[in-house]
Amino acid sequence: MECGAFKQPARRSTSLLTLGLTLLLHAANVSATGGSPSMGKEQFLAALLEQMSLPEKVGQLRMKHSPGTPPSQSALDTVAKGAVGALFTEPGVTREQLRAYQDAAVQRGRLGIPVFFAGDVVHGHRTVFPIGLGQASSWDLQAIGSAARIAAIEASADGLDMTFAPMVDLSRDPRWGRMSEGFGEDPYLVSRIAERVTQQLQGSTLGAADSIMACVKHFAAYGAVEGGRDYNTTNVSTHQLFQDYLPPYQAALEAGAGAVMTALTTLNGVPATANRWLLRDILRQQWRYRGLVISDHSAVQELVAHGTAAGGEDAAQAALVAGTQMSMNDRYFEQALAQLIEQGAVPVSLLDEAVHQVLATKYDLGLFHDPYRRLGHAQHGAQPSHDPKPLHRAQAREVARRSLVLLKNQNALLPLVKRGTVAVIGPLADNPVDILGSWHASGQPGQAISLYQGLKTAVGDDAKLLYALGANISDKRDDFLLLADKTVNFDPRPPLALLAEAVAIAQQADVIVVALGEARGMSHEGASKTDLNLPTQQRELLQALKRTGKPLVLVLMNGRPLTIVEESQWADAVLETWFSGTEGGNAIADVLFGDYNPSGKLPVTFPRNVGQIPLYYAQLNTGRPFDPQQPSAYRSHYFDTDNTPLYPFGYGLSYTHFSLSPLTLSTHRLRPGHAMQVSVTLKNEGQRTGETTVQLYLRDRVASVSRPLKELKGFQKVLLAPGESRQIVFDIDTSMLAFYNQHLQRVTEPGTFDVMIGLDSQDLQKAAFELDGTPP
Ligand code: NOJ
Repeated sequence: MECGAFKQPARRSTSLLTLGLTLLLHAANVSATGGSPSMGKEQFLAALLEQMSLPEKVGQLRMKHSPGTPPSQSALDTVAKGAVGALFTEPGVTREQLRAYQDAAVQRGRLGIPVFFAGDVVHGHRTVFPIGLGQASSWDLQAIGSAARIAAIEASADGLDMTFAPMVDLSRDPRWGRMSEGFGEDPYLVSRIAERVTQQLQGSTLGAADSIMACVKHFAAYGAVEGGRDYNTTNVSTHQLFQDYLPPYQAALEAGAGAVMTALTTLNGVPATANRWLLRDILRQQWRYRGLVISDHSAVQELVAHGTAAGGEDAAQAALVAGTQMSMNDRYFEQALAQLIEQGAVPVSLLDEAVHQVLATKYDLGLFHDPYRRLGHAQHGAQPSHDPKPLHRAQAREVARRSLVLLKNQNALLPLVKRGTVAVIGPLADNPVDILGSWHASGQPGQAISLYQGLKTAVGDDAKLLYALGANISDKRDDFLLLADKTVNFDPRPPLALLAEAVAIAQQADVIVVALGEARGMSHEGASKTDLNLPTQQRELLQALKRTGKPLVLVLMNGRPLTIVEESQWADAVLETWFSGTEGGNAIADVLFGDYNPSGKLPVTFPRNVGQIPLYYAQLNTGRPFDPQQPSAYRSHYFDTDNTPLYPFGYGLSYTHFSLSPLTLSTHRLRPGHAMQVSVTLKNEGQRTGETTVQLYLRDRVASVSRPLKELKGFQKVLLAPGESRQIVFDIDTSMLAFYNQHLQRVTEPGTFDVMIGLDSQDLQKAAFELDGTPP
């Protein structure tokens, strides 16, 4: 079998070293799966490492930025010189551009070691799927998995080998704009999604041309930034870290994620990128992780600003020693490591360990076998990046409609009928830009379906649509100046003129559909907020529309829970649609007109106001729990607002109505090491076929550490025809009762457990059972 890296020997140096490596690679006869009949992976990597000079080794640890433009000669020369191990690509980059880098690496490089290409394929690549929070709202692992598989197919076809995903940072603070990227507040739900996304990105084997490596991020606890301010300090108790924040990363790694990205933040005082405890003790020793550790963008450099490194040398040394193996887009490794090694300040074995890992990553990706595995060869032709043909529209629509959450439906206003006049109003109503969400990758607004377009296609000539902007998305254009994504259309007319136009068309309509929320850049990296209300102009628009007395449907597009107490009263129906992607408009139309019965459930709690944050369902009881039936000053509460959320975790309505029977337990005494079953009968009591998610929660009533009032431990999404009922059975085994004790040991303790099942985290059927002590 020929080794792709050496396809054009005539253009390569014929030094003895090169020749030696060429022969070595041929002898290795590396297969697509990384197997080698004549030489094993480790033997191959060791022999390669042996031939590398110090600068070449250091070069492998650098991930350099490649702008979405044809590479400059100097960028290509840098790669050819062996000073780059991987390239971090911008959205829209083409295979031709990337191929030029690979040509430089394998045809002009002394050893011909291929580079790999990585980018942010977070919720889709060309076909944009709903943002993470939206996908999580589907509670549908198959749908979420299909989005990841398609993202991998499309991204690999554009030449990418790795994605900086899944993003599994647990977050309980909607002030943090990056909550949009993750999968919500719950360790169990986020972990299940983390596993599925990882498996589907990486496909059947990492070496396959349509697989990309998952780089799970941001290790660790980036979602716990204080005050929800991005990049801020995180302080999480070790106990909470193990119990809540670490499991999703661990789940992704156990599912085989090939890479991990460190967080930009400090964790309990030590920056993640130089955190030996995190990167070596937990990751390598406890979890036995064997993949690559990449810093986040400039994180090595930022060790200086964090105040844990005095300068570049110090930062590079601290990061490498702690276990960061590749640096993304900063130059401290490149500038300092060789010298540190020569001076003996850093043992060469540490450098070799990191280089070995980078080479192993390339090996696993199949790049030593064929460096053009995902780039394709020039003769296979180009795939223009705006070509609509490769889009996976049907799958995007299916995932999107499963991600929509019906929060209110007074007097069964929804679904709407396809006749009469519908006023479609709001800054997000005909907006194919924001609907794509924060990490829209190579998705094109020109290919996205806005809500207005989706409604128009749905009604055809059967109903009349009227449209008005009604308000700008933000009260001031300047609100965008400090956002990373400043893309926004701003109508310069005075707010009152926009409002009057909208009210005028609303008055002619039978029903109003108003789309309000955020611009995609507002729920993104660097986009933190202290006020989660809708901007004043959007609120005033909704109020004015309410005053028309027409039936009012509020369609929310946003990347985090918003505080919408009044808005949810003003509107007759509220549909949370997050940022639903390329096919968002069609998917929302499907739900509004009842062509799809909504089934989404919230993966995060909606607070009533910012002061309640952090508000999540898995709270501890406290020593003084508040009882609204017997209010008392000396109980844990706010005197100016309720403890309860506006909408709880797991909540979401349907156009049909489901009932749940009382629970039946297979036993009331569980013996350690055994399993029991809890069952419930779910019935569709309404007139429409519908799907809902049955959720299982457990509580350990008395334990050595205070345990949450409830914790999600299982869920099943079930489709039922009108009148149909089904028995739903969950297995409970002792591993589901385990928790971390004060000494961070994972234990189960005997005693009484509550078992709860419901269609959201508040309205639950309950029973109890005993866990027996460990038999002597
Ligand atoms: C910084 C972000 O924190 C990270 O999530 C992303 O993958 C990198 N930039 C690359 O875009």
